[in-house]
Amino acid sequence: MSEHVSVMPERAIQLLDVKPDGIYVDGTLGRGGHSKLILEKLKNGKLYCFDLDEEAISKSREFLKAYDNVTFIHDNFMNMDRYVSHVDGILLDLGVSSPQFDDADRGFSYRYDAPLDMRMNKEEPFTAADIVNSYSEEDLRKVLWNYGEERNAGRIAAKIVESRPIETTGQLVEVIKSALPAKVLSKKGHPAKQTFQALRIEVNHELDSLNQFLERFDRILNIDGRLVIITFHSLEDRMVKHCFKRLSSVEDDKRIALRPEEVKKADYVLLNRGDKADEEEIESNHRAKSAIIRGIKKVYGKDR
Ligand SMILES: C[S@@+](CC[C@H](N)C(=O)[O-])C[C@H]1O[C@@H](n2cnc3c(N)ncnc32)[C@H](O)[C@@H]1O
Repeated sequence: MSEHVSVMPERAIQLLDVKPDGIYVDGTLGRGGHSKLILEKLKNGKLYCFDLDEEAISKSREFLKAYDNVTFIHDNFMNMDRYVSHVDGILLDLGVSSPQFDDADRGFSYRYDAPLDMRMNKEEPFTAADIVNSYSEEDLRKVLWNYGEERNAGRIAAKIVESRPIETTGQLVEVIKSALPAKVLSKKGHPAKQTFQALRIEVNHELDSLNQFLERFDRILNIDGRLVIITFHSLEDRMVKHCFKRLSSVEDDKRIALRPEEVKKADYVLLNRGDKADEEEIESNHRAKSAIIRGIKKVYGKDR
């Protein structure tokens, strides 16, 4: 099984601007690559790491065992404010890790035949098979269209409903192929890619988690604190971009209402306008191809 190569590691750490005695949060621990870089910069500071996946936590616990200033939390990063407060930096590196994709049994990949699962958190009862076999044709179409931006969502949804029950990734790939016209099948890229992305997002409530997090992170971020997010598809990036734009442009009533003591004092500035990985990184790590990194910093209104 392959290990995970962290995306834009230097840029992420640079944007976070880790202070040696600061409190940091890695909301998407994965295999601990970014976490290790943060820990290397800390002296008296502390790092809290979240992941929905038990395996990510157990492997990273081992990988980071030399450090005693790190705490692992098996929960959704949207619940961060239940565990930590007054933090100096938060990093999110969204989506799925390479080991999750490459472990055939997890059912994330169209490259292996496995039960249709796709859960990051195995304690959740709801799998991709449940969606595929129980959603109405219209609800399936919406999932594929909204979360996969799949142009042939209607055809694929109809074929899925007609072909039930569908239990494995291999069966689903065949159903998708049989739903698509020859000219679509002859195009570059795997024909099941968009459908698999959509199902994964639906199973793990990925956009809801990000949305909730974006609504709540301000409660726990110190003045001078930074939030850095790496996204891998346009749906996520759009949400982050709009949120950062809103926070850094005008006073935002919703945010101010959350922290009445900071009315008109706190504000945000953009740290960049969305950077991509360079060619060299993309050559050696294909996951970096679609990645965009954005950062924002919380400041006093007068410092803008
Ligand atoms: C792209 S990987 C992170 C890789 C990590 N930065 C590294 O360098 O090894 C994303 C990780 O975030 C986890 N994850 C995704 N969404 C999550 C959420 N809402 N809450 C907690 N963990 C999440 C996944 O289980 C996966 O392990």
